[in-house]
Amino acid sequence: MSEHIAKLIIDNITYELPIIKGTSDDRAIDIQQLLKKTGLITLDSGYMNTGACTSSITYLDGKKGILNYRGYPIEDLAENCTFTEVAYLIIHGELPTSEAMESFKHDMVRFALLHEDMIHFFDSYPSTASPMSILSTTVNALHNYYPEMDDADDPYGGYTATAARLLSKTRTIAAFSYKKSVGHPLVYPSPKLDYCSNFLNMMFDRPNLPYEIMPEVVSALNKLLILHADHEQNCSTSTVRLVGSSGANLYASISAGVSALWGPMHGGANQAVIEMLENIYADDKDFEKYLAKAKDKNDPYRLTGFGHRVYKTFDPRARIIKEACDKIFEQLNVVDPLLDIAKELEERVSNDEYFLKRNLYPNVDFYSGIIYRAMGIPTNMFPVMFALGRMPGWIAQWTEMKEDRSRIGRPRQIYTGHAEREFVAMKDRY
Ligand code: CMC
Repeated sequence: MSEHIAKLIIDNITYELPIIKGTSDDRAIDIQQLLKKTGLITLDSGYMNTGACTSSITYLDGKKGILNYRGYPIEDLAENCTFTEVAYLIIHGELPTSEAMESFKHDMVRFALLHEDMIHFFDSYPSTASPMSILSTTVNALHNYYPEMDDADDPYGGYTATAARLLSKTRTIAAFSYKKSVGHPLVYPSPKLDYCSNFLNMMFDRPNLPYEIMPEVVSALNKLLILHADHEQNCSTSTVRLVGSSGANLYASISAGVSALWGPMHGGANQAVIEMLENIYADDKDFEKYLAKAKDKNDPYRLTGFGHRVYKTFDPRARIIKEACDKIFEQLNVVDPLLDIAKELEERVSNDEYFLKRNLYPNVDFYSGIIYRAMGIPTNMFPVMFALGRMPGWIAQWTEMKEDRSRIGRPRQIYTGHAEREFVAMKDRY
């Protein structure tokens, strides 16, 4: 029995419910026996108050603005690690030894290619196709080409290989989808390049215009991907867990996660931020118009890049990204009027009572798109960049769900439709 209990009184009967505690101060009323004991369910639209699992991957304190992966503060990881190292940490639970890192990198190299038959997929999409739709469908199709994941004894199968395969191949899929959209020949992954350099090279190298890989850009990309690598039970991760809980394979589950991430309230926000900033710029910098729209209860418009379900203070990822943004603009000597628009908007929001009262601060998506623009990545690829970063988190969360032998996810509902009524045959209806 738990040390602490909560008491719930229903119709004068008192029920005792255990309170469970996490590693830090977070506590939860354990209602797993609620239905059995009381006949009642809980109603929690948007799962604002619902813990769906216990997890040892990511710790987040939304009031204090803390984010740790496997116990390590995000600030330390973003400053000192590569994305591949952090991916290993998230997936395997510990920072890699140099030997483990070499082996992981080796796997990433040997799994970087796509089966040549899959290249035809890219020809079937219109050049205007969304790279998120291509990513989602192609990740799903990977299972048809690489079913070895179910066989741990196969040198190309098992969990470690599948994790490396997914990280590596999704990067290839993302770059190929871009190349097809601009009608350029594909650039294949190079065994000589690290994860981020390889991605940039596959995106931007051309036979007639070789791409110079700049260490500043590689470093900024590593940082961005690290900051997106996991974020506990958000919409897309919960989707990955929910789909996986039915027994669906990892590729299918992550494909669903990509779709969930696509929306403008989640991973699509980085793209929507740029569109918003462009609109403000094109509208003679009429900030007041957009602030008024965002505050108008009768207008569904929101300032994208502000607010978060969990953070009620500055998103710690946004702080790091803002610094990285200033740095890369200086290093690359880039000028982008949207950066000035973003800074002025943030300034205005930070002095506006509406936003202050609701604890609406910049989130991870507010400045990330501006950095991606400086790197030359097109706006419709921004959610794909988010998905590449989130890949280790989805893999680790799916695996944890499997290891915990989670039951199939199946929320309940309170039915509010018609009470049972008499059926009337078609001929008697009027
Ligand atoms: N602009 C204007 N008002 C806002 C905004 C915004 N961006 N975000 C929240 N509000 C208001 C909202 O209207 C509500 O006001 P009231 O209390 O008067 O009804 C109040 O703030 C609370 O909002 P909520 O919708 O209950 O908050 P939520 O936790 O359900 O939504 C959110 C969180 C991120 C979906 C929301 O803040 C939002 O839509 N932000 C813009 C989209 C965005 O930037 N999304 C990326 C999130 S970070 C990436 C990720 O992790 O997915």
